Amino acid sequence: MKRWLPCLLALATSTAVAAEPAAIPSFSKVQSDYLLACGGCHGENGISNSRLVPDLAGLVGYFLNTSEGRHYLVGLPNVATSALDDEALSDVLNFMVWEIGGTSAPATAERFTASEVGALRAHPLNEVSLKDLRRRLVETLVAEYEAPPSLRYYGNTTP
Ligand code: HEC
Repeated sequence: MKRWLPCLLALATSTAVAAEPAAIPSFSKVQSDYLLACGGCHGENGISNSRLVPDLAGLVGYFLNTSEGRHYLVGLPNVATSALDDEALSDVLNFMVWEIGGTSAPATAERFTASEVGALRAHPLNEVSLKDLRRRLVETLVAEYEAPPSLRYYGNTTP
């Protein structure tokens, strides 16, 4: 009879643990801004799981190797016209490049400021072919800045 006791106790303990409410995840302001404004398409960790939306994780910082690439990140229509104000958008872009982007940004790259973002987003890239612009940027980044060839393809897939 006594041998049952530890088992019963273990059962009671594990049931008690399972009954606890799940911890509610807490997000910083920049994390929730990213999730609400960008994460729906790009994924909470920058993995889009879609052939139509580029992955950001471990890659997006390469664009900061050129000033045209820097403008591209802010001028993309989904970025430039987001509902976030300049301050919040610059925080999201810094989070995107240095947290989600891992070590992909060059060591010399400077963080986005609200005034830079305000100036760049005033000229959204909605008059150009994003596909052509991106292809040109990516070829330069692969050829001259050691970006991985997988940057050519969305969602780490081949076309
Ligand atoms: C409605 C879906 C959607 C939302 C919301 C969205 N994006 Fe995108 N994003 C895309 C698509 C699609 C592309 C591919 C280029 C294009 O067609 O705009 C893209 C491209 C990008 C790129 C270029 C990456 C590359 O490898 O070329 C960056 C950076 C980016 N988005 C950042 C953001 C940020 C930051 C936000 C939030 C402020 C955001 N996006 C919101 C769909 C979205």
